Amino acid sequence: MSPARTDARTDARTDARTAARSPLRLGLALAVALSACEPAPSAESQKTAPSTSSSTSAAPAAAAGDTQPPAGGTPLPVAGAPAVAPTGLGLGRAATEAEIAAWDIDVHPSGEGLPEGSGDVALGKSVYATQCVACHGPAGEGGIGPQLIGREPRTGFGEAFKDRPRTIGNYWPYATTLFDYMRRAMPQYAPGTLTDAQVYGLSAYLLAENGIVGADFVADKTSLPAVKMGQAVEFVMDDREAYDRVR
Ligand code: HEC
Repeated sequence: MSPARTDARTDARTDARTAARSPLRLGLALAVALSACEPAPSAESQKTAPSTSSSTSAAPAAAAGDTQPPAGGTPLPVAGAPAVAPTGLGLGRAATEAEIAAWDIDVHPSGEGLPEGSGDVALGKSVYATQCVACHGPAGEGGIGPQLIGREPRTGFGEAFKDRPRTIGNYWPYATTLFDYMRRAMPQYAPGTLTDAQVYGLSAYLLAENGIVGADFVADKTSLPAVKMGQAVEFVMDDREAYDRVR
């Protein structure tokens, strides 16, 4: 151990003794001792660090940012390096239109993105009975999955409702979101397997069971965006310009 380090330790011990009644000061003293053990670069060596280690050399140190090879040297060629930088890693291939279309299925609240086709309540009821009932219950009361049918309490907003279920009937603001969600996420064990007609039918069935549309409702890309979800008025667009928005 160098004399400097020994001194630092000794000083720290002295500090520790005088600070014995104050654990905080003792901790600080030890921290100082430990940092003194780190070989700190001198101000001088920091200044000249990037240059040659020979302080006796008359050659000026290379200026920062100077990427020229040392005098007399030539850049070494890299074996096999292409003359032009590659544009990619040469892995994979571009996705086809069909592959992109399979993923590009989002439906906006306005209904933009809804596909062709339609489905009625009867179709939805039969699909529900075979593919959804196990998790959402025979009456949509919930089970493994959340409650889907049941509108009371009428809205899922406010303190009084914070522990009660928020359902399609009392919380969801857009019927179009129902289509989007079910098509991309349900049934949970096989998302993406429902046909568009089945999803339209399920939308019609769940909206009818929640008392939002009549039993004769047929869901399609025109009728679904027109459905008025009563609770939509509870959602207020944040159009403030004066504050930073959380995105
Ligand atoms: C294997 C169990 C399972 C099956 C089968 C299933 N679901 Fe779900 N479902 C869930 C779970 C779990 C959630 C909650 C997922 C979450 O919050 O991330 C959910 C959520 C939902 C929601 C959103 C409810 C809300 O208010 O947040 C809807 C709508 C829905 N499912 C519809 C369906 C339909 C329609 C079917 C049949 C085609 C179906 N589910 C089949 C388990 C299932």
